[in-house]
Amino acid sequence: MNSTTKTNTYTDFEKDVIDGLQAYPKHLSSKFIYDKNGDKLFQDIMAMPEYYLTNCEYNILKYQSASIAEKFDLKEGFDLIELGAGDGKKTKLLLNHLSNINANFTYLPVDISQNVLDELGSSLEKELPKVKFELLQGSYFHVLSQLSSYNKRQKVILVLGSNIGNLLHNDAIEFLKKIQNNMTANDLLFMGFDQKKHPQIVLDAYNDPKGITEAFNKNLLLRINKELGGNFDLESFFHWETYDPETGTAKSFLVSRVNQEVKIKNLNLTISFKAWETIHTEISQKYDDETVKWLAQEANLSIDRRFESETGYYKNYTFKKS
Ligand code: AVJ
Repeated sequence: MNSTTKTNTYTDFEKDVIDGLQAYPKHLSSKFIYDKNGDKLFQDIMAMPEYYLTNCEYNILKYQSASIAEKFDLKEGFDLIELGAGDGKKTKLLLNHLSNINANFTYLPVDISQNVLDELGSSLEKELPKVKFELLQGSYFHVLSQLSSYNKRQKVILVLGSNIGNLLHNDAIEFLKKIQNNMTANDLLFMGFDQKKHPQIVLDAYNDPKGITEAFNKNLLLRINKELGGNFDLESFFHWETYDPETGTAKSFLVSRVNQEVKIKNLNLTISFKAWETIHTEISQKYDDETVKWLAQEANLSIDRRFESETGYYKNYTFKKS
């Protein structure tokens, strides 16, 4: 390549902004919400009384760890691989039970953030000194494909938090397929799926009166301002949530209050908004057993067992290769 050739290599975030804000209707991907500020706002969301998901899954792991662990190969031992480990608050309930019964296993938390892993590692040493663990930094599927050749004993793959809910059904199937590809007949997938319920309860979870969820969604605009030289006026957008009880899809939008133009200097872009024009930022899918069964089937997985929260608001499922 000679020196006059201009190469434009865009980051994934830049690509998403370029495509999403020039599309009609406009959209931005929720996966870019999570920088340091976004992580903090999500922590705040999980602590809100309206955000029932975290408590429900916490209670499932607190009270049903023993029956969940019955599914694990306690005789030969197993590797417990968690995709997106975070602070491990919920997982520690399961680890605590496994430690109490002297299970032979290694905990392998996978996360994209080394920072998150380091904190998890030091808290594990303090709180659960008997638990063997190895921190794995990287993207889920890169790490998973390495692991599938790494060990012959059972793999138990953990995906908590109903994170799959951010994916449209087709993408969710692709996600499950990639996991399935790295499983053998003995392996187990343990995953959380937020359930359909009274629509008001869902809306309240994504529409808090303090505006934490609003700030969480607006972090996309803040990142564009900070990282890409944007001049979004955050006050001239507001957050709007919808829930369709038929499809189980909660959708988040940022709505422009006025006609306006936004400049994004680093991308050489000017974006016009009409009053009431939307940017779609996130879906949070709610499921029922039939839908989970269908998604699994499409990915050549089958439901092995269900673990339901007391309220029925939330379920974890174990899956096997079918
Ligand atoms: C982390 C994807 C499970 O969709 O419930 C919380 C993110 N968005 N409040 C969800 C989120 C708004 C959350 N997940």
